[in-house]
Parts: sequence; C-alpha cells; structure tokens
Amino acid sequence: MELYLAIACTLILWLVLRAATRPRSDVPIVGGRLLCGYVTAAKAIFISKRYLEEGYQKYKERTFQIPGFLAWTYYVSSAKLITEIRKAHDDELSFWADLEQAQQGRYTLGPSIAEDDWHFALLHKALSSSRVENLLPDVFDELEFAFDKVLSIPETGAKVVKFYGTFLEILVRINNRILVGLPLCRDDDYTKSCNKFVDGIAIPVIILSVCPNWVKPIVARMVGAQKAVKAGERFLVPVIMERLQLETERGSVSYEKPDDVLQWFVDAAAHHQSDPKEIAGRVMSINLASTHTSALPLTRIFYDLLANSQYIEPLREEAELAIKDYGWTKDGLKAMIKLDSFFKESMRFKGINMSSLTRRVMRPMQLSDGTLLPAGANVAANAWGVHHDPAIYPDPETFEPFRFSTSIEQGESAAHHAFWTASSEYLLWGHGSHVCAGRYLITHVLKGVMAHILLNYDFKIPEGEKSPKKELFISVAAVPNMKGKIEFCRRQAKQ
Ligand code: HEM
Repeated sequence: MELYLAIACTLILWLVLRAATRPRSDVPIVGGRLLCGYVTAAKAIFISKRYLEEGYQKYKERTFQIPGFLAWTYYVSSAKLITEIRKAHDDELSFWADLEQAQQGRYTLGPSIAEDDWHFALLHKALSSSRVENLLPDVFDELEFAFDKVLSIPETGAKVVKFYGTFLEILVRINNRILVGLPLCRDDDYTKSCNKFVDGIAIPVIILSVCPNWVKPIVARMVGAQKAVKAGERFLVPVIMERLQLETERGSVSYEKPDDVLQWFVDAAAHHQSDPKEIAGRVMSINLASTHTSALPLTRIFYDLLANSQYIEPLREEAELAIKDYGWTKDGLKAMIKLDSFFKESMRFKGINMSSLTRRVMRPMQLSDGTLLPAGANVAANAWGVHHDPAIYPDPETFEPFRFSTSIEQGESAAHHAFWTASSEYLLWGHGSHVCAGRYLITHVLKGVMAHILLNYDFKIPEGEKSPKKELFISVAAVPNMKGKIEFCRRQAKQ
C-alpha cells in the first residue's frame, strides 16, 4: 500500500514539474499544447505515426516538436539536420542519458556498467564486418542445433508454433553461442533466464523512470531492480571463475582461451572492473541489446514474406544457388542479395521503430535551421518520415522487396544498398558513433535463419487461424503480432 502511495505521489510531483517545462515558441508543434501538451502526449501513444507523417509533410527541412509525458521531443528529418545530431558529442546530445532513462541501468545493471561503456566500444571492433566472418562457423552450428531443439519439426507431419516466442528462443541461443560459447549457450535454464531478462527488468524500469533520482536507490531495492541481472550472474560467474582458474593453472601458452564475448570482456576489463559479477552484468546488458531487437525484425520480415508469398520461390532459388556455390559461408550469405533486399524493404516499410537516434539534450545546442534545443528535452530522427519519402524511396507506399537488389543489379553500389548499412536515409540501426555494434553479426544470423527456413521447411497459416498481419503502433514502436501461429513441415527433397 505504502509503495503504491509513494508511486502515486511521485507521479503527481513529477507531472507538476514536467508541466513547468515550456515548449520553445519558435519551433512548430505537431499535436497541440492543450493541458501543457499532455493531451497530445496521451494521443501519441496511439497515433505517433500520424504525428510523424504530419511533421514530415509540413516541416521536412526544419525541426518540429511533439509533447511527451517525460519531456518534449524535437524531431529532425532532413539529412543535414540528422547529420548534426549524429555528429554531436555525448556531452551535448547524450545517447547515454537516453539509454539510462530507457533501461535505468544504474539500478538494473549496476552503476559501474551504466557509467562506463567500454564494453560497447569493444564490440564495435570485435563485431566489425571483417571479424564476423570468423564467428560464422559457430553461428551455423548453433543454428542447426537450435532449430532441431526448439522448432523440432517431426520427419513427417506438421507442427504449429507461435512464431515470435519460438524464434526468440532460437535467436537467443544463436546469439549466446557468440556471447558465452559452449556449453553454457545450450543450458536450458540459462537460455530461459536470458529470454526473461527483458521482461524481468521491464516493471522496475517503468517504476524507476518516474521516480526522482534521490528516491531511486530505495525504490530499486523495493522493486528488486537487480533480480534479473542476478539471475544471469548465477550462471555466468562460475564460468568466468572456471576460465580464470584454467588460465592460471595451465598458463597462457597451453591454455587456449574460448573465442566469445564473455572472454573478450574478461581479457579487456581493467583491474578495477574485473569483478566476475560486473563482467556478467556487461554480458547481460548485451543480451538486453540483442534479444527482442533481433526477434521483432525477424517476425516482421517473416510475416511480410507470408503476406507476399510470390517471393518465397525466388528467395528459395537464390538461397539454393548461393549455398551450392559457396556453402554456409560469408560468401554464401553475401550472394543472397534478394534476401538482403527483402529484409531492408521490410524494415523500411514498417520496421520496428518509427524514430531513431534518440538523444537527451545535455546543454542547449543550436541547429543550422536556427532551432535552439533546450537542455532536458529529447531529440530524435523522424525515421518513419524518412523511410516513406518519395524523393528517397520512389513509390514508398508500395512494398517492393527487391527494390535494393534491383538497384545493385543495375550497377549501383552494393555497400550503399546493403541491409546493414546505416545512413541518414536508412535509420534502422541508428547512425554515428553509437550506431548498432551488432548489425553485421545479426544481419548474418537473420539471413542464416531465413535461408535455413526457406531451404528446409514449408510453412503456412494453420487452418482456421487468421493471418498474423496486424501490427500494433504503440508510441514510436511498430510491434508485429507476437502471438501469430505458423504451421511448419519439412520440405520433401526435390525429385
Ligand atoms: C536487428 C537487430 C538489431 C537492431 C534493429 C538494433 C538496433 C540498434 C539501434 C537503433 C541502436 C542505437 C543506435 C543509435 O542510437 O545511434 C543500437 C545500439 C547498439 N546495439 Fe543493436 N540492434 C540489433 C541487434 C543487436 C545485436 C545482436 C547486438 C549485439 C550482439 C547489438 C548491440 C548493440 C550495441 C552494443 C549498441 C550500442 C552501441 C554504442 O552505443 O556504441 N545490437 N542497436
């Protein structure tokens, strides 16, 4: 009871404080300022897409603002302004302050992790496009294992599965082969704890995000904010200890260290950050960055394929040829340019997030259109507007899966049109110094998973089930149906 009362009081106090912040009068508002903008903030939970479209049509070349519950968000759309956002330093426009708001990392992961991001910087190098190639044999091996274990389709007959949950687990297993290696990545209890990690911190994050800073340490203890990370520590700490012991016993010459993210973190941790619990927390933070973020795009892409089934055969033929020519290798996946294009179009057309490059304004910053971004506000790129601009993507309201592969076949740059390429015109991965560090790895993983599905299974919507096309636009997220069921059966070998 006391907890609910404390939360209610904090909420009221916080709403009053937020109401005192004023929008800049010289920057156009989309929505309105009725009741200090709270009416628009409430409507934006359901109709952000409409606001972003309106903002793009009216103010493509200049900044506009939309009121939110936590702060006003300033949106930019033009390549020029997006470049200014991506180039700004963290002490001006902070990725970290925004992430802290979203994850409450100081309380859910621990202060040391939230304050020092060396592990993210390390991943940018360790998961670069040239180094991902070395990880692919492990990815393919785990992929086979995870499909057999989780999807587990009988030799004859069919099986109906919930697509999202099933493939979330498959992706968690594949990603964890790279994060923690064998044998832990095949431990069912560890996998469950990773699956549940995001859900485990979701409620504490919501509660903490409306609390003033001074009360957070107490609230964090009351809501068990570190429970999820502790569940991960239970598995990770013994593995770290064992590896350190083996290294000491056998010496650096005869002990061959595993090649996974956990080991990279152990080796790179500075002395004061080498506590196994802290290393474990950093690994869990990568799980946080890579579970639903990977499963949501795969689900959207798969549903787009189901809804446009005329593309199944061309993609299958391409995958067959690529694997015949190059095997399950980097070149094999690279040769699947139609599949790459399908992914990119699916993420352009609806995607999973309508905004990108969200940053917290730390000190007032002037943009070239004259807008002075006030400290405390948020700034973001209008990804939905950009991805639906006819000047960038001709006929943008048509789902055209091979638009990028066709451009490549016509001689345009393959690198520019690749799924993993981030730019001011393609904002799935963010952009600039905080661009997604896992994009090369996950592109390979997702292409491997889709190629495996295409080559090994037939699939359809089960009799009596509705097509799982409907998605939910909630705030700036575009969430594909997470309950959709799919019937899989093994493909019969071609005669
Ligand atoms: C399709 C799946 C994924 C999507 C759509 C995605 C998207 C993103 C986005 C939008 C950002 C923020 C970029 C910015 O604001 O400029 C980000 C950051 C990041 N992502 Fe991903 N991500 C995905 C998968 C992964 C995976 C599998 C990993 C790790 C193995 C990963 C690791 C990271 C890290 C470490 C950062 C922070 C980079 C930094 O601050 O320097 N992501 N991701």
